[in-house]
Amino acid sequence: VTNTDFYRPSYHHTPSYGWMNDPNGMFYKDGVYHLCYQYNPYGSKWGNMHWGHAISRDLIHWKEVEPTIARDPMGHIFSGSAVIDKEGTAKYGKDAIVALYTSASDKNGQIQCMAYSTDGGYTFHKYPGNPVLTPFDGLKDFRDPKVFWYAPLKKWYMIVSADKEMRFYSSPNLRDWTYISAFGQGYGAQPNQFECPDFFQLPVDGNPNKKKWVMIVNINPGCLFGGSATEYFIGDFDGKNFVCDSKPSVAKFLDYGKDHYATVTFSGVQDRVLGIAWMSNWQYANVTPIRQYRGANTLPREFKLFTGKDGQIYMSSNVVPEVAGLRKTFKRLPDLVIAQGKDSKNLSSSKENAFEMEMDVAPGDAAKTGFILYNEKGEKVNIYFDMKAGRLVMDRTESGRTKFGEKAEAHKIEKEFDLHEHREIKEPFRKLNSVNYKNDFALGTWAPLSLCDSKTYHLDVFVDKCSIEIFVNGGRIAMTNLVFPTQPYTSVKFYSDGNKAAYRNIKVSELRL
Ligand code: FRU
Repeated sequence: VTNTDFYRPSYHHTPSYGWMNDPNGMFYKDGVYHLCYQYNPYGSKWGNMHWGHAISRDLIHWKEVEPTIARDPMGHIFSGSAVIDKEGTAKYGKDAIVALYTSASDKNGQIQCMAYSTDGGYTFHKYPGNPVLTPFDGLKDFRDPKVFWYAPLKKWYMIVSADKEMRFYSSPNLRDWTYISAFGQGYGAQPNQFECPDFFQLPVDGNPNKKKWVMIVNINPGCLFGGSATEYFIGDFDGKNFVCDSKPSVAKFLDYGKDHYATVTFSGVQDRVLGIAWMSNWQYANVTPIRQYRGANTLPREFKLFTGKDGQIYMSSNVVPEVAGLRKTFKRLPDLVIAQGKDSKNLSSSKENAFEMEMDVAPGDAAKTGFILYNEKGEKVNIYFDMKAGRLVMDRTESGRTKFGEKAEAHKIEKEFDLHEHREIKEPFRKLNSVNYKNDFALGTWAPLSLCDSKTYHLDVFVDKCSIEIFVNGGRIAMTNLVFPTQPYTSVKFYSDGNKAAYRNIKVSELRL
């Protein structure tokens, strides 16, 4: 481990060298999870896009293997998906792995291409007749195909992002695609650019007789706190049209942090819908204080639908139980009832800044209560319940290195590298307040506690060198934020504004691979 690797996560997936953004082409076959990703093997900034590739048997221990799809004269290999062609519909044999990705270049624009593998997804051959799909209207932003099998019509379906909407296509053989319909114009957080779609069915409240379709839409910009975020829409699908349950003005976010983007799910997994997101934000992804590599993925998460107290259906995002295998030490802190002042506990198990902290919090009548993770330099992250506003907040304003997030600096560099067009937020977010920070990184993010509909909150907090992920009440709230402390956070301080708040079952475990 070198100095430049100071922030390399201990138990999150990262590329050993180079740059990584979106997870791509994820599938599960013969006991192995395959995770491909947007990858630049030549440097730690965006460029030269390939599909990198890692494999795992438990979603936690990843082994990097050869990149599966390399950039070619047609263009960058942008995001996409992979499916197991059980019936051999594409004529590459039963169980061939077929990947659909976007080829992107100034010359050809963004076009959908196909590649196949007959060795279980380790080596891919590009289809010589590429592209298999071009936009019918010459659209510039047309990318990130996600393919799934639609059983009622026994056909493949593709959902692909097309500027400010998602388009559906269908195919008998993964090669010939017919346009079906579009959804999304005017829906959700604004402004937005739709990217990286996903589409799947889930039971509501665990009831197998009540199923709904979920459309995942990654948007950039549109994040509550600036930059990129994952939102989703719930509704019905009849093979032709997706009809959303909620009004266009409703925006539902899958994660309330600022570093959770390009969420997509694995194909080939039975009984669970498992997703992974890239832990960064296009506002500053290229300038985070890391050199040797850039980009980490979130812990894998399972998605479920639940009915909220407003009667609407929401999607929870909870860390998969497989992570329990990472626990190396276990420490139980005494229960705390805090009235006034602060209770400080030393997190001696966190020297590596790689730990999990669980607890049950009863804010009681406190207007504000929470805990601060901090280090000897006074760098801190303040995680608290703002009961007046009904919010869970994670404030990283003074978390350590933040200067790289100053707009001028981050955006200047973004321009130089001809990255994503940065659009200023011009109108307030619908229903949610707009923010205008001087620094895109030094800020707090918050989630509405109404999603939990409870008086006590179970918190599961994962700290890993440069990231904090919080899951509340089984993922009804998920919040993912990067932090760059110059020393590990070794202590935790619980506090309340005066009225009693209780913290029980506080458990701290050091996590290691
Ligand atoms: C999302 C995205 C995708 C695109 C890829 C390029 O982060 O912009 O839309 O395919 O990144 O790397």
